[in-house]
Amino acid sequence: MSLGTALSNIRWAERKADTEARIAAASLTARHRLSVRLMPVAAASSIFVILVLFGALSLPAAVAAVAGLVFAAAIWPLDVTAFIDVLAGRPHVTAISRATETERNSWSAVIDAIPTAALALDANGTLLHSNRLAAEMFPKIRTGLPMSQVSRSPDLLMAVDRALASEEERIDVELVERVPVERRVAATVSLLMPSVDTSAPRVLVTFRDLTEQDRLGQMRTDFIANASHELRTPLASLRAFVETLQGPARDDANARKRFLQLMASQAERMTRLIDDLLSLSRVEMRVHLPPRGIVDLNETAAYVCQSLEPVAEAASVKITLLREDSPARIRADREEIVQVLQNLIQNAIKYGREGGSVEVRVGRDTPPGSGGSKVWVNVTDDGPGIAPEHLPRLTERFYRVSVVSSRDKGGTGLGLAIVKHILNRHRADLRIASRLGAGSTFTVTFDELGGAA
Ligand SMILES: Nc1ncnc2c1ncn2[C@@H]1O[C@H](COP(=O)(O)OP(=O)(O)O)[C@@H](O)[C@H]1O
Ligand SMILES: [Mg+2]
Repeated sequence: MSLGTALSNIRWAERKADTEARIAAASLTARHRLSVRLMPVAAASSIFVILVLFGALSLPAAVAAVAGLVFAAAIWPLDVTAFIDVLAGRPHVTAISRATETERNSWSAVIDAIPTAALALDANGTLLHSNRLAAEMFPKIRTGLPMSQVSRSPDLLMAVDRALASEEERIDVELVERVPVERRVAATVSLLMPSVDTSAPRVLVTFRDLTEQDRLGQMRTDFIANASHELRTPLASLRAFVETLQGPARDDANARKRFLQLMASQAERMTRLIDDLLSLSRVEMRVHLPPRGIVDLNETAAYVCQSLEPVAEAASVKITLLREDSPARIRADREEIVQVLQNLIQNAIKYGREGGSVEVRVGRDTPPGSGGSKVWVNVTDDGPGIAPEHLPRLTERFYRVSVVSSRDKGGTGLGLAIVKHILNRHRADLRIASRLGAGSTFTVTFDELGGAA
């Protein structure tokens, strides 16, 4: 046992002893109050007995007087309001029940404020209170139900029983709930201090849904597996070329020249992938930092079209730019907007029609009731288009309609994932419209900056 655990056990024992002492004191006080009431009755009764013996008082009068005294002792020191409430048929609220009610309200409020699902049980394991998240997690939950009707998990029920038997102060269990949806949940059963009030909570159970954490963990694992696979493929071919050059092709000048070219292109592919991975992680890290610069979409689109002119020419694609008449200014990080437009225009050149055309258009809309105007850029190609089942998944990392075609064209499958993250940071929107055989249009829409900005 560690020193920390030993200390916490001692503290727990001290607190428990203190509370038990307080409960004992409370019951002593009750006994004391009873004796205070009975003593005057006993004293007066003794005097009546003496008076009856000496003939100074008749027996029926003495019996009536003692009965009157017992009745007075029984009702004293109840306040008069109790009688009025009883006579009026109303429930009488004593100071003690009022204090209990206040205490109940305050611990219910604490349970409601717990940011995860939580419920409290009394010393019999009956549900006293549960918060909203617990009600969402256990649809059958209702105050007054035994815990066994709230959850069927044997581990959880056993943990509650052990806590109620004061065997352990805190027990962690894991449960897999299958209804209404399957999820993994971590539950912590904590034993609370014993209280004078028997209806006070004795056990607190809090729950943490691990499903989201599992999903993120799975996403991370898949991402690492995908990234390693993407890197391993060019690495394996590089190693194969090196081995061939060291062995069978050692003295073959033609093979050496060809292999070195192929090796250079594999190395380039690895560099592109690493650049995209770094770019994605940088964008992800900054996704919560609002951009500070001011960018004119007209100017940025013209800059990107011009810089991609050589790529378009190599694919015999003609790029046309249609600008908005006045500057289309947005709050943005210029480098990131360049990256978005580059990705979209490069995709249009790569996956569009060879010898085809790409149109880049900057525009402005003022949707009614939106309180401001929107500016957008759309990139349209006249290529083969994308089948509808792929559209919702295009922005997933490493998702490609055809892995072979993307690799042949120097793609990494990360471009649109980067675009999506950048647009999230800019609170902008990406829409993809495409039909097989009818080309594709990718539109990014931003809030336009007001004139004074
Ligand atoms: N304009 C387009 N026309 C047809 N398919 C496209 C277009 N743009 C993107 N795609 C599809 O979306 C996939 C993902 O794009 P992206 O994330 O940029 O990855 P990459 O370009 O590296 O392959 C591409 O592999 C391609 O299959
Ligand atoms: Mg791309």
